[in-house]
Amino acid sequence: MLNDKIAAMLNDQINKELYSAYLYLDFANYYADEGLDGFAHWYEVQAQEERDHALMLRRYLINNGHRVVFEAVAKPDKTFKTHLDPLEAGYEHEQYVTSLITGIYHEAFEQKDYRTMQFLDWFIKEQGEEETNADDMVKKYKLYASDAKGLYALNQELLGRVYTPSATGPAM
Ligand code: FEO
Repeated sequence: MLNDKIAAMLNDQINKELYSAYLYLDFANYYADEGLDGFAHWYEVQAQEERDHALMLRRYLINNGHRVVFEAVAKPDKTFKTHLDPLEAGYEHEQYVTSLITGIYHEAFEQKDYRTMQFLDWFIKEQGEEETNADDMVKKYKLYASDAKGLYALNQELLGRVYTPSATGPAM
């Protein structure tokens, strides 16, 4: 059994990951509406990865004898004035998620819950990649998308993102 506080934090993180999926699908909705199918696709793939993160946390709790309880997923309420806005919001959001994962890791450390620390190691590494990817999106947009040709090329590049199920994630 896990410590109740850690179990509650992990349960809450499921909600946060599902919200991330919802948020990124909202970004995809915006880009689809703007005619940028590559950007929309990139965020649809990102949403799938976020759902995977939620499922990993759910499975970990179940495997450790905890009843998972779902809360309501908040409505994404960001409004965008430019095509850059969602990219910057995405980077900011990933930094926030990193702080949440770090918070759970810290609590696991305090409680000497080595099993949860080991489980979260994958998420710690993943958050490093998530932040880098989100920051790269901002940088690429600023570098290449200042004219229609550049925006078109970047959109085409983003269409190539392939969803890979998180088989390399923590043991289910
Ligand atoms: Fe599940 Fe993008 O962090």
